[in-house]
Amino acid sequence: MSHSRQSFATPVVTSVNAGSGLEDVIAAETVLSHVDGAAGRLIIRGYDLQDLAGWTFEALLSHLWRDLAPENLDKATIRSELGAARVEAYPIAMSLVGDIDALGDVEALRLMLAALPDATNTPHHSLAVAAVPVFSAAIARRRRNLKPVEPDASLGHAADYMRMLHGVEIDAGRVRALETYLVTVADHGLNASTFTARVVASTRAGLFSSVTGALCALKGPLHGGAPGPVLDMLDAIGEPANIRPWLQAALDRGERLMGFGHRIYRVRDPRADALKAATVLLRDSAERIRFAEKVEIEALALLAERKPLRPLQTNVEFFTALVLEAVGMPRESFTNVFAAGRMAGWTAHVLEQERLGKLIRPQSRYVGPMPA
Ligand code: COA
Repeated sequence: MSHSRQSFATPVVTSVNAGSGLEDVIAAETVLSHVDGAAGRLIIRGYDLQDLAGWTFEALLSHLWRDLAPENLDKATIRSELGAARVEAYPIAMSLVGDIDALGDVEALRLMLAALPDATNTPHHSLAVAAVPVFSAAIARRRRNLKPVEPDASLGHAADYMRMLHGVEIDAGRVRALETYLVTVADHGLNASTFTARVVASTRAGLFSSVTGALCALKGPLHGGAPGPVLDMLDAIGEPANIRPWLQAALDRGERLMGFGHRIYRVRDPRADALKAATVLLRDSAERIRFAEKVEIEALALLAERKPLRPLQTNVEFFTALVLEAVGMPRESFTNVFAAGRMAGWTAHVLEQERLGKLIRPQSRYVGPMPA
């Protein structure tokens, strides 16, 4: 049967402004997280972020996956399941780590993540979460001509991440600071990578395809971004006497102060507070952190002076930079560590989307020429 072009009914669609980036468009319903930018709240499955920032990463996973994963597991079972899954991921890191020298760190992680086999003994969502620290530590060590370190399945996830990175167990304070980071960034509404994961999952492509797609979205500087520039700014300022003149000169040149301002949060980003609280654990970096706090105070005062109509507060990147630097993460690994935390949210959203079982297929509004 042939159709004339005119015979198609025009579907009723809610039109969006071409330049809007879908801002304010509701594209999914979720029980997982809610970002209230006006109130400065991040709610993760019924809890304010500040109330669960002290949880272990395993406890958070148990909470996020509850009633979405095939089985409800407590945090102790998840801990041992992640340990086994890290061991399962290790041979993949070993077999691919020699091929990454021409790749950036996120590209190298993408290569390894995409290699995860669909047929596996471990539940997919645990393997996806477990694999990122194994891969990202192997990648970071390769850059320093060091061999990957085999996972220790008996350790907690954050502690083993640190061990696989440094080659030795490190102090509990730094492990806890990294864990706070992983929990703090685990989920954040329908951000670009989470939306990507849900779109891929909605085609029933499977978990590893969904989270590899999410990682590709995270790679872009507008998303996975760069706490690195915060460290560059602190390095450039150099010493306390230079703080105010340096910041003033940067603002005079029309530059932005790194680690301040946010598209959604109009008041303080709750993740910045959760991470700031974790910096007390970083005793060896106390001087650097005191210096950064002075920079923060001066920056907030100057921004309030210069942009009185625009509330500009400290964002998550400012304290992320300090925490990741203090735990010994190389700057080029920062996006991969972000992926290690956000994988918790990606897997939960994929599980939720798969339960929904509906293909995500929006419409576009055609603005091109019509046939003569
Ligand atoms: N330093 C100085 N001025 C800033 C600023 C910052 N960090 N962030 C925003 N502004 C100013 C802009 O110059 C602009 O001023 P104008 O109206 O006089 O031109 C005004 O605030 C609004 O900027 P806009 O780009 O519309 O805000 P946004 O909400 O879209 O931007 C960010 C959000 C995060 C992109 C922005 O705040 C920024 O570039 N911050 C610095 C980089 C950073 O920390 N990135 C990590 C983000 S998690």
